[in-house]
Amino acid sequence: MSGAACATAYARVQAELRDRPRHWLLTGCAGFIGSNLLEALLRLDQQVVGLDNFATGFRHNLDEVRGLVTPAQWARFRFIEGDVCRLDTCQRACDGAEHVLHQAALGSVPRSLADPIATNRANIDGFLNMLVAARDAGVASFTYAASSSTYGDHPALPKVEDRIGKPLSPYAVTKYVNELYADVFAGSYGFQSIGLRYFNVFGRRQTPAGAYAAVIPKWTAAMIRGEDVVINGDGETSRDFTFVENAIQANLLAATATDGARTRVYNMAAGDRNTLRQLFDAIRGALRRCGVEYAREPVYRDFRPGDVRHSLADVSLARELLGYVPTHRLAQGLAEAMPWYVRHLG
Ligand SMILES: NC(=O)c1ccc[n+]([C@@H]2O[C@H](COP(=O)([O-])OP(=O)(O)OC[C@H]3O[C@@H](n4cnc5c(N)ncnc54)[C@H](O)[C@@H]3O)[C@@H](O)[C@H]2O)c1
Repeated sequence: MSGAACATAYARVQAELRDRPRHWLLTGCAGFIGSNLLEALLRLDQQVVGLDNFATGFRHNLDEVRGLVTPAQWARFRFIEGDVCRLDTCQRACDGAEHVLHQAALGSVPRSLADPIATNRANIDGFLNMLVAARDAGVASFTYAASSSTYGDHPALPKVEDRIGKPLSPYAVTKYVNELYADVFAGSYGFQSIGLRYFNVFGRRQTPAGAYAAVIPKWTAAMIRGEDVVINGDGETSRDFTFVENAIQANLLAATATDGARTRVYNMAAGDRNTLRQLFDAIRGALRRCGVEYAREPVYRDFRPGDVRHSLADVSLARELLGYVPTHRLAQGLAEAMPWYVRHLG
């Protein structure tokens, strides 16, 4: 896809959806990425069924979305409180759905090391239930949250979709198994899907609470509260930090992709790498621009088991086949996300 065509692909999809609203099933809608997808879909006047069991999501995320859309848009949303580990729940949720965005899962590498059985159940049993239910419901598209953790111990940078290593955690195993099942469903039943390998997504509504919080909300909360920021390792570990707006774009492009672009996995990232030390400085700078000063230096601790050392995505496949053009790099994403954190934690 040429640059000009790429630049318009997302705008075109948004216009098409506005013109002819579709029926969506969004699992994990009370979570971070899910609630951002919900907001985006409702702003486009889509009909959305949301499924979540509040394992790691929050009612207050749904309440916040309700406050951000019009009453007419909110009326197009129906919520099912339920577990993807139950096939009958997945079947009920898939009834009438055209597009499925499957986000529900237990995230976090450390959580999966602490409780691999719970992660396996939600991420593999739940995924398989959703595949079966969506296949039987004859949905038009199935897009799921895959993960950069699938690259495991493969040393190459940037990460290219077909070169993966061995998984380094139970979480990574589950996300890789998702891809294997998706592939087998394409071969065995002709059921097409797209997996988006998310790379460290961040943005508003990502919780800083709990032992398994992601690094950006955790550090942001610590800085706002004047607490220590702990860096695992020497600070040179790097990640492709991806603002949630990029994830929204990728999901809508994937859901409406043509056949040639389906039955694949794509990197979903900014395509840009920052070290943890750079991230610390970037968050501190973004908070300063919101009037929050943090004068301390980070505290360095041991490396965390299961973490990969470096991560950077090659996003050219998504660019070429989906028309994906990341709109936000780390600094822009932090600039948009920080006011939300200051409002909610300040
Ligand atoms: N945030 C990231 O950087 C990142 C990176 C790679 C992959 N992912 C994947 O993206 C998806 C969304 O992640 P997130 O960061 O928004 O996490 P999140 O924890 O905020 O959202 C996950 C949602 O799924 C729900 N859920 C969990 N188990 C469920 C079950 N059994 N039945 C129904 N609902 C269930 C949770 O309650 C929560 O609302 C997940 O699949 C995650 O593995 C996220």
